[in-house]
Order: sequence, then structure tokens, then C-alpha cells
Amino acid sequence: TRIAIFASGSGSNFQAITEACRNGLLEATPALLVCDRPGAYVVERATAADIPYFAFAPKSYQTKEEFEGHILQELARYEVDFIVLAGYMRLIGPTLLNAFKGRIVNIHPSLLPAFPGLDAVGQALEYGVKLTGVTIHFVDEGMDTGPIIAQQAIEICPDDTREMLEKKIHEVEHSFYPQTLQQLFSVKGEAAIR
Ligand code: GRF
Repeated sequence: TRIAIFASGSGSNFQAITEACRNGLLEATPALLVCDRPGAYVVERATAADIPYFAFAPKSYQTKEEFEGHILQELARYEVDFIVLAGYMRLIGPTLLNAFKGRIVNIHPSLLPAFPGLDAVGQALEYGVKLTGVTIHFVDEGMDTGPIIAQQAIEICPDDTREMLEKKIHEVEHSFYPQTLQQLFSVKGEAAIR
């Protein structure tokens, strides 16, 4: 499977996924990074790992349709067949959704459907839940709403600071995302053989 990873920020999940590909834990090829913030640290990670990237400024396009059209061209150029969102801070529009039906997944730092959208960790702390977690799901037109693939729970301890909770969540994500993708791709592969 040739994957494109979409990210907007630091890219620690990008790093975990590409490392899992390198060491064989995840049987996939990271063919392309797509980044909507040209200055983001994830671009440096891609450069260091020798992975091609397409970094673009959404503001330099008139519409989402236009920049997603441009993304599609890049995905075709790198023969991408699956999209992995990892901290991509933007809703996917119909242009990409239609072209990659059932082939876009996202990771979200809460037990969906609780705390969708921005700052899920802050929302969970604010609400005072004792249990939060990580959700991996298929992407549809909504905000963190598609069918759930896998979830992992994480306990919030009484004296967890925001930083501590974020660290716990990231640690889980970095092994959980590659593992879940590997399962997904092997099931898809078997289905294709049958
Ligand atoms: C992760 O917590 C992910 O769940 C959320 O955005 C964060 C991205 O972190 N969607 P990073 O850029 O991979 O470090």
C-alpha cells in the first residue's frame, strides 16, 4: 500500500508511521507527505527521512476544491492509494472524499463520539472525565464522525497535568496508529485476494 500522510504541525505521528514502515512493522510505503502549513516541523521530518512532500498554502487558492484538486494531482503522481490523516487540521472536502472513498483514515485524541473537533485533550480535562483515549476512524464529510476502526482507552489520573496527559496520548498514538494501519491493510489485502 502506498500511503500519503497528511499533517499540519509537529508530525510526531508522521515520524512514528514512517519509522514503522522502515522497520517492517507496517507493510506500506510512505509515498508522500501533504502539508497545509509550509513552515510546519513535519516538513523538516520528511526532508530528513527523504520522503517527498507537497506543502501548500490554502490561502493562495480561491477554493478548497481548487487546492484539493492540486493535492489529487500530486497523489496521482506518487501513485498513492490510501490517505492517512495525522494532525491535519482541516476538513476533507468532496473532491478528495469522492476520489478516495473508504480510503481515508484519521486519528483523534479522544474516545469518539466524545470531544470531537479542536483541543480534544482540553475538552476532556475541562469536562472532568476519568477515561479518555484515542480513536482511529474512517473519514467522512463531518468533523471526526466517520465509522470507528479502533479505540484505545487512557486513564486520566487526578493530578495529571495537560502536558502529562498529552504525553500519554502521544505515546499510545505512536504505536497504536501503525499497528491499526497494518491490521487494516492486511485485511484489505486478504479481501482483495478473495
Ligand atoms: C495527534 O494528537 C492527533 O491525534 C491529532 O493531532 C495530533 C497530531 O500530533 N489529530 P503530531 O503532529 O503527530 O505530533
